[in-house]
Amino acid sequence: MKFETKTVHWGDRKKTGGFVPVTTPIYTASSYAYDSMDQLDRIFGREEEGPSYARYDNPTRSTLEELVRELEGGAGALACASGMIAIQMALMTALLDRPKRVIAASALYGATTNLLMNILGPMGVETTFVDICDLAAFEEALVEVKPGAVILETVSNPLLRVAALDKIATLCTTANAPLIVDSTFATPLLVRPLELGAHIVVHSATKYLAGHGDVLGGILIADQEDYNVARTISRTLGPIMGPFDAYLTLRGIKTMALRVTCQCENACKVASWLATNPGVERVYFPGDPRHPDASTIARLFPKGLYGGMISFELKGAGRDEVFRFMEKLNLIVRATSLGDVHSMMLYPAMASHRDVAPKQRHRLGIHDNLVRLSVGIEAVEDILADLDQAFSA
Ligand SMILES: Cc1ncc(COP(=O)(O)O)c(C=O)c1O
Repeated sequence: MKFETKTVHWGDRKKTGGFVPVTTPIYTASSYAYDSMDQLDRIFGREEEGPSYARYDNPTRSTLEELVRELEGGAGALACASGMIAIQMALMTALLDRPKRVIAASALYGATTNLLMNILGPMGVETTFVDICDLAAFEEALVEVKPGAVILETVSNPLLRVAALDKIATLCTTANAPLIVDSTFATPLLVRPLELGAHIVVHSATKYLAGHGDVLGGILIADQEDYNVARTISRTLGPIMGPFDAYLTLRGIKTMALRVTCQCENACKVASWLATNPGVERVYFPGDPRHPDASTIARLFPKGLYGGMISFELKGAGRDEVFRFMEKLNLIVRATSLGDVHSMMLYPAMASHRDVAPKQRHRLGIHDNLVRLSVGIEAVEDILADLDQAFSA
């Protein structure tokens, strides 16, 4: 089956008794009854597939896990209550039997940096941040730090840099340090990091996978060894996605290929329009041929679709002018999050990177005139008209 066909069919229509629902329903039971103790014994012993208790398995959640595992090309997937807990699960999985040292990309989602520095740090995990787009610097750090795990984002937030994750994955395999890739911005439609050698992939399912602004969730997909560890931890802790969110995410994924393709095409047009706008200082977009990582992007994004995210700097603006510009938007929603069907704009200095000290933020290149646009599936003319009237105002 092709990717688009799998998004619509994979995992559905399991026979439950005498009938077969065409899409997977929401199962809310926290435990299950069986005809015999022998069967219950086999299920608890995992010799037979089947749910026993909601912390371990849930048929709605398992169908979502089966589908995303297939789309990412992994051995197993674990649907979690948020993207952040999926990242925490990935780090715990990698570090369980390895040195408690992490190499992290210096440009990461703010909460991931916070997790590493302010939660895992005091618990004894040392993190070294490196510019992950500088392969020589990464190789040097790998030798020096001897990490138990490496973490990066396929497309960094909010400056949309793209590291050579295929080359980094090879180095990580040699160093026995699992490479964790947060692929939230890319989706498996555009990039499949496991096929490029990564060991664990995570998504905030809240974003493109669910796609409609009504779910909080995360998902971890891994090779067999890491999946087995993650599943064991999960069965003990229960960081899992509930059945309602799993249902909404399954429903969302059925249109993901259509949505994401449209978002990518719209984003290309919006980025070109912004590049010629006199009110714009600089545009950050992976589809820009002058992008600093253009050769890596050409290799990792072979479909010519570069994601639906654009960041740009407003010429001569500070916080006040950015606030006034964003307040003028009528169609584009001023909100955090991304990847929804509707276009959304966020001010990183105030939202995703609010907890990063201003000096550190500026060092990362996240200036006070930078905004981030998640392009939706609206008619592109309406998105451009909204931006145009906000610039004029
Ligand atoms: C790249 C990235 N990773 C992880 C997360 C965290 O996901 P969640 O909010 O679902 O916990 C986000 C949230 O914005 C994100 O942008």
